[in-house]
Amino acid sequence: MEVKFRDQQAEHVRTDLLAVPVKESEIEGALLRRLDRRLRGGLAERIRRSRFTASEGSALLYTTSGMLPAANLLLVGLGKGEEIDADSWRKAGARARKEASAQGAREIGFFFAPDKDGESAAAAAVVEGISLAAYQFEKYRSERKPATAIQRVTFFRPGLKSSDALARAAGLAQDIAPGVCLARDLVNEPPSVTTARFLGEQARRHCRGRGLTVEVWNKKKIQQMKLAGLLAVNRGSVEEPRFIVIRYKPQGKAKKRVALIGKGITFDSGGLSLKPAKSMETMKLDMAGGAAIIGAMSRLPVLRPQVEVTGYIPTTDNLPSGSAQKPGDVIRYLNGKTVEVLNTDAEGRLILADGLALAAKEKPDYMINLATLTGACMVALGNEVAGIFSNRQALAEKLIGCGREAGEKLWQLPLVKEYREEIKSSVADIKNIGGSYGGAITAALLLQEFVADIPWAHLDIAGPAFAEKDSPLCPKGGTGFGVRTLVKFLTTL
Ligand code: BES
Ligand code: MN
Ligand code: ZN
Repeated sequence: MEVKFRDQQAEHVRTDLLAVPVKESEIEGALLRRLDRRLRGGLAERIRRSRFTASEGSALLYTTSGMLPAANLLLVGLGKGEEIDADSWRKAGARARKEASAQGAREIGFFFAPDKDGESAAAAAVVEGISLAAYQFEKYRSERKPATAIQRVTFFRPGLKSSDALARAAGLAQDIAPGVCLARDLVNEPPSVTTARFLGEQARRHCRGRGLTVEVWNKKKIQQMKLAGLLAVNRGSVEEPRFIVIRYKPQGKAKKRVALIGKGITFDSGGLSLKPAKSMETMKLDMAGGAAIIGAMSRLPVLRPQVEVTGYIPTTDNLPSGSAQKPGDVIRYLNGKTVEVLNTDAEGRLILADGLALAAKEKPDYMINLATLTGACMVALGNEVAGIFSNRQALAEKLIGCGREAGEKLWQLPLVKEYREEIKSSVADIKNIGGSYGGAITAALLLQEFVADIPWAHLDIAGPAFAEKDSPLCPKGGTGFGVRTLVKFLTTL
C-alpha cells in the first residue's frame, strides 16, 4: 500500500473514496459547504435527511456522480471532537477502509487536518486503522469473501507538506500490522490445529530474517532443562510440549536486553479441575500471550530496534486424563522453589514460572510477560483493558504510555505484599491459588517469585486478547493485543 501526502483541496482529489473526518461542530463548516456547492446541494440535503450529526462512530457515504473527481465521498463522524486522540484517527482509518472494501475501492483519499496530536502520530494511526480493519479469518469458510486490497492512500489538505517524519510514521504503521494479523491468525486457528508443535513451527516460519533465530525445544530438551511446570501441565496431554526461544540480536551494540515471556496454552480445559463447557468455548485464546510475542518479534528484522530481545514461550494444552497432574501435586522448579498445585486450572502461572526463571538466569534489563492469566482480571477491567503489574514503577509507566500511543489500554494493578499470605502452602513454598478475592493479584504475586529482582512487568491480557464481537479495528476473535505495545516499547527504548 502506497502512502502519499499532498497539498491539495478536497474538490481536486481524484480517488475512489474520499474520506473526510468531521466533528459535530464542522457539519456546517466551510469545507462541507464547498463540497456541497460542487455537489449542487445534494450533500446538505442528504445530511439533513439521514440526520447525520457527525457523532462518534457514525459515517455517511455519498456517491458524487461525476460532480467531483472522487467517485465516493465518505464523511466520518468524530463526535464532539474534544478528545481526538490517536485512537480516534485509528477508528476513522478503519471506517474508511470498511467502506472502501464495501465499494470495491482501491484508493482512499483522506482529508487530514489533525489539530491536537502530532501529525505523525495521527497519520500513523490512520494507516494502522486502514491496515488492521482489513483483517479477516476466512480460512474455514466454504464461501470466502475476497478482500479488496487498497493500493494507495493519499493524505491531503491545502498546505499539507510531505516530510520524512510523516512518511516514516506511516511506513512504521504498515510494518507493524502484519505482526498483529499473525497474532490474530494464531489465536483464531482451531485448537486442534494449534498444538504446541504447530506453534513452534509457526514461530520458525514467521520469525525469520536478519538478526532472528528460533529454537524449538522438544520434550526431551525440556526435561534436560528441568522445566518442571511445563512438564506438569503437559502430563494430561497426548501432544508433546514445546518451549520456543526466539532471539533477536541487532547489528552493533544493543542498548538494552529485553526478555519477553508468553503464555502458550493452546487449549485450556482446566485439566482435572475441569472448566464448565461454556467457559471452554473460547479457550483456544489461551496462547494469545505467546502469539503476541511471535507477532511482535516477527517484525523485528524490518523494524531493527537497537535492543537485544529474547522471546520465551512455554506451550502445551491443559487437558485431563489418567496421567494428568492432580490437585495436591507439588512442582519443584529450577530455581529451587516448590509450588503446590491445588487447582489445575491455574496452569498459566505454572508454565510462566519456568519461562521467568529461565529468562532471569540471563539477567536481562527488563522482563515482560504477557498472559491470558485470570478471569479475575476480566472481572476487574473488562474486555478492553489489560492489567499491568510491575516491580518497577518507571517500567509500568513506560509500558502504559506505549500502550496509550499504540491504542492498547493498560491499567496498573498493585502487587499487594500482604496478599502473599494467601499463596502460602501447607506443604510447599507456595500454592497456585489464593483466596476468593483479588485473583489477578495473587496470580501476579506467584509470578513475582520467579523474577529474582529483575525489572519486570506482567500484562494480564485475559480480557482484551479476544473480542467477543466485531469492532471497527478487529472482527470477533483474536485481537493481537500486545503486539503494538511491545513494538512501541522495543523501538523507543
Ligand atoms: N486461561 C484462564 C484465564 C482466562 C479466563 C482467560 C477467561 C481468558 C478468559 C486461566 O488459566 C484460568 O483458568 N484461570 C483461573 C484461575 C483460578 C483457577 C485460580 C480463573 O481465572 O478462573
Ligand atoms: Mn486455566
Ligand atoms: Zn489458562
